[in-house]
Amino acid sequence: MILIMLLIALLSLGAAAITVPPLALPGCPEKCGNVTIPYPFGIGDGCFMGTDDTYRITCEVKNGSSVVRAYQGTGEIEVLEMSLDGAPAIFNSSFHSYQCFNQIGEETKRGNYWIDMRTSPFRFSATRNKFTAIGCDTIADISEYVDENFMSGCVSVCSDTKSVRNGSCSGIGCCQTSIPFNLKRFNSTLWSIYNHTKVWKSNPCSYAFLADENWFNFTLADLLAESFVSSTIPIVMDWAIGNQTCEQAVHDTQSYVCGPNSYCTNSTNGPGYQCFCKDGFQENPYLPGGCQGNYLSFY
Ligand SMILES: *[C@@H]1O[C@H](CO)[C@@H](O)[C@H](O)[C@H]1NC(C)=O
Ligand SMILES: *[C@@H]1O[C@H](CO)[C@@H](O)[C@H](O)[C@H]1NC(C)=O
Ligand SMILES: *[C@@H]1O[C@H](CO)[C@@H](O)[C@H](O)[C@H]1NC(C)=O
Ligand SMILES: *[C@@H]1O[C@H](CO)[C@@H](O)[C@H](O)[C@H]1NC(C)=O
Ligand SMILES: *[C@@H]1O[C@H](CO)[C@@H](O)[C@H](O)[C@H]1NC(C)=O
Ligand SMILES: *[C@@H]1O[C@H](CO)[C@@H](O)[C@H](O)[C@H]1NC(C)=O
Ligand SMILES: *[C@@H]1O[C@H](CO)[C@@H](O)[C@H](O)[C@H]1NC(C)=O
Ligand SMILES: *[C@@H]1O[C@H](CO)[C@@H](O)[C@H](O)[C@H]1NC(C)=O
Ligand SMILES: *[C@@H]1O[C@H](CO)[C@@H](O)[C@H](O)[C@H]1NC(C)=O
Repeated sequence: MILIMLLIALLSLGAAAITVPPLALPGCPEKCGNVTIPYPFGIGDGCFMGTDDTYRITCEVKNGSSVVRAYQGTGEIEVLEMSLDGAPAIFNSSFHSYQCFNQIGEETKRGNYWIDMRTSPFRFSATRNKFTAIGCDTIADISEYVDENFMSGCVSVCSDTKSVRNGSCSGIGCCQTSIPFNLKRFNSTLWSIYNHTKVWKSNPCSYAFLADENWFNFTLADLLAESFVSSTIPIVMDWAIGNQTCEQAVHDTQSYVCGPNSYCTNSTNGPGYQCFCKDGFQENPYLPGGCQGNYLSFY
C-alpha cells in the first residue's frame, strides 16, 4: 500500500517534472499554429527581446491556417519551423523568378523576385541553400541588389531535352550555384539568349529560386511547365544575436544575452553569436532565467 502510494507520488512528481519549462517569456504565447516561437523571438509587445522590432514575430490566422512571419524584412516569406538547438529556421517562400516566351520569341510573362531581411536577425544559410535555375535557354543571376556587393548565377543551355537527366541539376536543363556567407538580401533575374525560340516546344519558360538544397529534384516535367508548380519553396535561414563575437559580447554586459548555465558560440554565417545550454541543462538559454537543470526525469 505504502509502496503504491509512493509510486503514485513519484509518478505525479514525474508528471509535474515533465511539464516542459516554457520556451517563451512567462505569459507569452509559445506557438502560432504549429510553429513554436522561442524567445528571443516572440509574438506581441513585451514578448520578444529588445526594444526595436528585430525579434518580433507576427502571427495571423488567414483562412483557417496560421501564418507566421518575421516582422522585419520584406518578401512576405513565412516561418515554417524555428528551434534553439543550433538548427536554422525554415521559411516558406512561394516566390521565384520566371520568364516565358511565345513561339516567336516575344516575352509573355516575367517576374523578378527579391527578399530583403536586413533588419531581421536572419540570413540565408550558405551551406544549406542553393540558387537553382531551370530552363534550356536560361541565364539566371542572383545579386545583392542596390550596391551589388556580389553577383553570381548560372547558365543552362540545351538544344533539346534528350540529354536531360532526371534528378540531376548539372547544367543541362537545370543549373545550381552556391550563395555567399552573411547574405541577408538578394534579387534574382532571368535572361535568355534566343528567347527560347530554339527550344520553345519543350521549354517555353525559365525559372529560378533560392531553396533548401535537398528540396528540389529536377525532372523533365519542370522544363515543360508553363508555371512553376510548387506553392511552397523552403529556404533555410540562420540567425544570430547582434554583430559582436562572443568575446566582445561577454564584456558588453548591457547587451550580452546568454543566460545562466549557457555558453556562447560565434555565428558561422556572418557576425553575431548564439547561446546554447551547457551539458545537463536544457531549454532556452536566452530566457532571463537561462537554462534549466536538475529536474526529475523518470521517463
Ligand atoms: C498542424 O499540423 C498538422 C499535422 O501536420 C496539420 O494537420 C494541421 O493542419 C496544422 N495546423 C495548422 C494550424 O497549421
Ligand atoms: C480558403 O480555404 C479553402 C479550403 O482550404 C479554399 O477552398 C479557399 O480557396 C481558400 N480561400 C482563400 C481566399 O484562400
Ligand atoms: C527577345 O525578347 C526581347 C524582349 O521581348 C526583345 O527585345 C529581343 O529583341 C528578343 N530577342 C530575340 C533574339 O528574339
Ligand atoms: C530524384 O528523382 C529521381 C528520378 O526522378 C530519383 O531516382 C531520385 O531518387 C530522386 N532523388 C531524391 C533525393 O529524391
Ligand atoms: C532586381 O534586378 C532587376 C534587374 O537587374 C532590376 O530591374 C530590379 O529593379 C531589381 N530589383 C530591386 C528590388 O532592386
Ligand atoms: C523523367 O521524368 C519525367 C517526368 O518529369 C518522366 O515522364 C520521364 O519518363 C522520366 N525519364 C526517365 C528516363 O526516367
Ligand atoms: C507557403 O506559402 C504559400 C503562399 O502563401 C502557400 O500557398 C503555401 O501553402 C505555404 N506552404 C506552407 C507549407 O505553409
Ligand atoms: C553593430 O550593431 C550595433 C547595434 O545594433 C550598431 O549600432 C552598429 O553600427 C553595428 N556595427 C557594425 C559594424 O555593423
Ligand atoms: C569568436 O571569433 C573570434 C574572432 O574570430 C575568435 O577570436 C574567438 O575565439 C571566437 N570565439 C568562440 C567562442 O569561438
